[in-house]
Amino acid sequence: MNHFIFLDSHTHILPAMDDGAKNIEESEQMIRSLKEQGIEELFLTPHYYSHKESVDKFLHRREKSFQELKPILDHYDMKYSLGAEVYAIPAIFNYANLDDLCIEGTDLLLLEMSSPKSDPQHELNMIQEIYSRHSVEIILAHIDRYPFMLKQKTLKEFAKLDVYMQLNLDFLDAVFFVKQKYLRYIKQGYVQFLGTDCHRIRDKQISKIQKYRSQLAAKLTAEELQSIY
Ligand SMILES: [Fe+2]
Repeated sequence: MNHFIFLDSHTHILPAMDDGAKNIEESEQMIRSLKEQGIEELFLTPHYYSHKESVDKFLHRREKSFQELKPILDHYDMKYSLGAEVYAIPAIFNYANLDDLCIEGTDLLLLEMSSPKSDPQHELNMIQEIYSRHSVEIILAHIDRYPFMLKQKTLKEFAKLDVYMQLNLDFLDAVFFVKQKYLRYIKQGYVQFLGTDCHRIRDKQISKIQKYRSQLAAKLTAEELQSIY
């Protein structure tokens, strides 16, 4: 086994929180599968939509879901940090306690840009606005979902804002040109986090971690692999 990718930095495993795991049984299946494939740690990142729910209400729901999941995480000896995948719309500024949505014990905020079709300038402005109001460090969720990120010039605009970037591992299943592009971004040091963004046990990427590891090991140097969490 290739010894890297221990952390799944983007998951929807908390039971009955969002469009992820439906119940605790499904959460357990997902954790077992990831653990069997060498994942040692999870960021638990359910969707947070500020136009639908207050931060406090979300945190309350998350805590309830987490209490149900905790014995399973412990049983599988899976490390974890609670967090959220925060949808980037102005309604988030209604709340002063955005910091509470960061990955536990860090100031890392996993941010989901509003739309793959949006004007990248709109997303850049949003990030700047967040940084002007909150002392958080942004991880841009699944940059592979946004076609505008394929333009290196645009990607550099984001990188200039000092954001971290996360790729969903199934970018490796994309067409050749797209896959090569994101591999190059890893090589160039733009990407710090990989994740499955798994929602349901039926999601194909859950059972393909080993395959993705082999592919990355074949394409990247040991040094490049070490630059990813
Ligand atoms: Fe997600």
